[in-house]
Amino acid sequence: MDGSSRLATRVKLKDAHLITRMTDIADGLTDVIKLGRGDPDLDTPAHIIKAGQDALANGATHYTHPLGIPALRQAIADNIRAYGGADYAPENIVVTPGGQQAMFIIALALLNPGDEIMVPCPGYNPYHQAAELAGAETVHIRTSMATNFCVTAEMVEAHITPKSKILVLINPNNPTGTVTPPAEVVRIAEVAKKHDLIVISDEIYSRLTYGNHTVQPVAALPGMFERTITLSGMSKAYAMTGWRIGYFAGPPDLIPALAEINHAFAISTASVSQHAALAALTGPQDCVEDMRQIYDGRRRELCNGLNAMGISYAEPQGAFYIYANVASVGMGAAAFCERLLREGRVLMYPGTIYGDYTDDFVRMSLTTHRIPEAMSRMKAVVDRIRHDALTGAQA
Ligand SMILES: Cc1ncc(COP(=O)(O)O)c(C=O)c1O
Repeated sequence: MDGSSRLATRVKLKDAHLITRMTDIADGLTDVIKLGRGDPDLDTPAHIIKAGQDALANGATHYTHPLGIPALRQAIADNIRAYGGADYAPENIVVTPGGQQAMFIIALALLNPGDEIMVPCPGYNPYHQAAELAGAETVHIRTSMATNFCVTAEMVEAHITPKSKILVLINPNNPTGTVTPPAEVVRIAEVAKKHDLIVISDEIYSRLTYGNHTVQPVAALPGMFERTITLSGMSKAYAMTGWRIGYFAGPPDLIPALAEINHAFAISTASVSQHAALAALTGPQDCVEDMRQIYDGRRRELCNGLNAMGISYAEPQGAFYIYANVASVGMGAAAFCERLLREGRVLMYPGTIYGDYTDDFVRMSLTTHRIPEAMSRMKAVVDRIRHDALTGAQA
């Protein structure tokens, strides 16, 4: 009996993920510039670290309330409201070990086998895995450069079937770094109401937007509070990925059951991380703005580099990613990423990892200060590939 026949049938991904493979290749090389993972190179701000250290010294070494410490849930409620979100009571907020775990809790709690969950394509891939484990069907809403990779109300409407149950909106989106315009979010909400959908609104990057782009929180729209689960966390805005802390918030008829699943999975989120998150939300907020400006500067550097190579990209409006179309280089995106890694020692991921239905795009994250060098290394590889294609064609 081989390993894969012993795995449950619900497990679809039976081998190492492409990300694991690329990481293994990168580990075997020296001086790789990593534009891969969505993990800020910036450190957690010092006052947040200090709050964690103080909490440990003061005995925050135990389980907490299963939903999270009350002061943190109150701070999350205040924070959501301060940025135009819904009015959540602390008992309708569940603190989780990262927004990532929240996805699986929500999927397991709400999806029956055969139910359909609509996800943006390309979009953050763990939503697909969460749906799979719940035995549900993932319906991909394909987006393209035509709408700057944003889902529209018409696209949602076109994918509705009698089995449609959940719509996932990721705003700003990962991997595309694009923001769905507020007016479009309002129109999508109307479709959700018309078809009685539950919306998972992933707003984890909502504090990181550029230019005049802003995020419309879904649950604050008329008639949406009762059908929306807001998912977010501290990882991105406060550079706290390693603390593993996030949350979800929803209507009172759903939260107690979802909270119990989280309780069974985690008992509670790490106490130290909750105290640090409390300091993040209630302390000075200029650290978020400082980091946002750093990503904004890197965003410009990366766009300049791509412009110089004649490579087009979705307009980056939020999060810390650029989604670029490498088809003009003359090879598929997955093969290009591997060649760029081996020859240029620059790591980035092909869009296929995020469910892209083409092999044309790559995601580059802005989580390193070495963007100019990454761009000149990339240009050297791109020039070589194009030159080889030209001389090969002439030969
Ligand atoms: C769109 C999106 N949602 C949620 C998460 C989960 O983040 P965490 O588990 O660190 O809170 C990520 C992580 O990259 C993400 O990109």
